[in-house]
Amino acid sequence: MTQDLQLDFTDPAFQNNPHPVYAQMRRTGPVRRVKLPSGLNAWLITRYDDARRALSDPRLSKSMLAVGSAGAGQSNLTTPISRHMLAVDPPDHTRLRRLVSAAFTARRIEGMRPRIEEITTGLLDALDGERSADLIDAFAFPLPIQVICELLGVPAEDQNAFREWSNVIVSGALAGDRLAPAITAMIEYISTLLAERREHGGDDLLTGLIQVREEGDRLSAEELSSMVFLLLIAGHETTVNLIGNGVWLLLRDRDRWERLRADRTLLPAAIEEFLRFEGPVETSTFRVATEPVEIGGVTIAAGDPVVVVLLSANRDGDRFPDADELRLDRPNNAHLAFGHGIHYCLGAPLARLEAQVAFTALLDRFPDLRLATDPDELPWRPGTLLRGLHHLPVLL
Ligand code: HEM
Repeated sequence: MTQDLQLDFTDPAFQNNPHPVYAQMRRTGPVRRVKLPSGLNAWLITRYDDARRALSDPRLSKSMLAVGSAGAGQSNLTTPISRHMLAVDPPDHTRLRRLVSAAFTARRIEGMRPRIEEITTGLLDALDGERSADLIDAFAFPLPIQVICELLGVPAEDQNAFREWSNVIVSGALAGDRLAPAITAMIEYISTLLAERREHGGDDLLTGLIQVREEGDRLSAEELSSMVFLLLIAGHETTVNLIGNGVWLLLRDRDRWERLRADRTLLPAAIEEFLRFEGPVETSTFRVATEPVEIGGVTIAAGDPVVVVLLSANRDGDRFPDADELRLDRPNNAHLAFGHGIHYCLGAPLARLEAQVAFTALLDRFPDLRLATDPDELPWRPGTLLRGLHHLPVLL
């Protein structure tokens, strides 16, 4: 029943629009073992109910040691950045997450609104007088990067180098020879940054984390650098796609743009719908079964890696009426774009706020915004981890 599916993750047609393939998987083999571009065999989970259950099943472990035994382990190279909260189970997960969760509460994040607005205004001011732009390069990328760097306390002048490494690292095996040097450069950078901050201190999250480590010894050196790594990567690679994919969806059918311009009360629901319909993160990170686990009628053996296809779960017609239709005012939008369970995205309030500020500013400043090219010809980033455009050429 499942043999008919031609699954080639590197096929440009799949990169451009993976939804038809995932729809077929949901129909013909919703829990299915495939070979990923990294060469690893993993179970892909594509239906909403199965996905939600898998994401909160404690028998599916995040621990790198468990993943290692399944052949996907980290090399020695990545050890200093692999002990972060998204790579461990409780009780380590609980401890690591608690250390930073106070900085990411909805209230604390809301306090950053004026500063996020300032950064947004600065980026859009730079486009004054221009007739066209690449909205990814000029806006969607630098906005979240500047925000997370400021929150952590990473100097603005380092942000470009960081963006380059982070891009290579999230493409993983697809980056080929460039991967190892990027990881090494990133590790060196983080350790220099921590050393500098240890000496001079500051009023930022980085300094706060260093103090926690020095006072209570509840954070090992590796846990500290891994935490910084995770926060920077998560802040660099995700929200850009929420802004980019959202603008792409609005402009490919400009009635949506006009509707949102006319009724801003729709914006929060519209952002949730962008997250559901074309979410920034295509697949979850790996989990590994610590014992046989039955999902959707299939038994996953102990030691097998599992990946949840968030993009697919969010298009499941059994959960979302007219799932392949973008509805700016969709009610009950319990999408899985930020994951589910104990690893639910820590940065969700920040990402939502950034998106609100970004879309508001774009709608205000560029009422005539339109795409400069055919929406179906735009280049999507390769790989199955993230779903986002390389470039978004627009007329201002
Ligand atoms: C975890 C999505 C922005 C920090 C996750 C997960 C998803 C996700 C799906 C869970 C992965 C899994 O279970 O395998 C997103 C999306 C974002 C976004 C769609 C933007 C629209 C951010 C931002 C930060 C952040 C801005 C901030 C610094 C984290 C952290 C985790 C996480 C720390 C790990 C949480 C844990 O393991 O307990 N994110 N993220 N994310 N995200 Fe985000």
